[in-house]
Amino acid sequence: MSTIKSLFLHYRTLHTSARVLKKLKAAEQQWLQRQRKDPYVKASHNLNFRCRSAFKLLEIDDKFRLLQPGHAVVDCGAAPGAWSQVAVQRVNSAGTDPSAPRGTVVGVDLLHISSLDGAHFLPHHDVTDPSTHSKLQQLLPYGRAHVILSDMAPNASGFKELDCEKLISMCLTLIDLAERVLLPGGSLLCKYWDGPFSHSLQQKLSCKFGSVRTVKPNASRKDSSERYFLARMYRKPIK
Ligand SMILES: C[S@@+](CC[C@H](N)C(=O)[O-])C[C@H]1O[C@@H](n2cnc3c(N)ncnc32)[C@H](O)[C@@H]1O
Repeated sequence: MSTIKSLFLHYRTLHTSARVLKKLKAAEQQWLQRQRKDPYVKASHNLNFRCRSAFKLLEIDDKFRLLQPGHAVVDCGAAPGAWSQVAVQRVNSAGTDPSAPRGTVVGVDLLHISSLDGAHFLPHHDVTDPSTHSKLQQLLPYGRAHVILSDMAPNASGFKELDCEKLISMCLTLIDLAERVLLPGGSLLCKYWDGPFSHSLQQKLSCKFGSVRTVKPNASRKDSSERYFLARMYRKPIK
């Protein structure tokens, strides 16, 4: 390659990297600004929740009363642990209220999760892996749960449809987990991204649960395609 051509290519690479860096910086600024203005971020700091998503579960639970003292709960995609914090409070798994039955919270994530009083965590575990289901079962009283929660989300690939499909396929494995641990009459709350594949998940859930509804809590950003399926009254298959 001639010296001039290689210099030109070098210059073009530098120029492109500078442009990409500028775009990244702008996106970071935008994210920081949104975080600063977000009332749920402020409230989560004030109330010591590990992240703003706590308010999504609080809102859903206030409306549908999923989590009762004494319940056993599995929290899938639990890191950093805000949903588990809510579940611990609501099922009394830290024994804060001595007059109420004491529940159980088991959280699982691919990532590390800092310990939390009242919760057992399985970090570095993949919820879609059947061997994780056995480990979860061992941590539950009598191997059974009243509620399965899932706020799991795959790393974004940048291709929206692909990400939606990936999340749906992850949610489908929760049906296998339910078959293993969910008590008859139990509930499953799972996050999905609205798209062409969500209907098939809804249909599969409807075959296994007495009722399935879509929930979009106020704390879920309006511009996000994030939704939750709340499936209730689990019909355990008879074997
Ligand atoms: C939106 S965050 C969950 C936030 C959590 N509900 C809270 O309140 O702290 C999504 C989590 O799903 C986890 N995740 C994604 N795929 C997973 C998988 N296959 N198994 C377990 N966790 C997974 C990610 O590591 C991430 O921590």
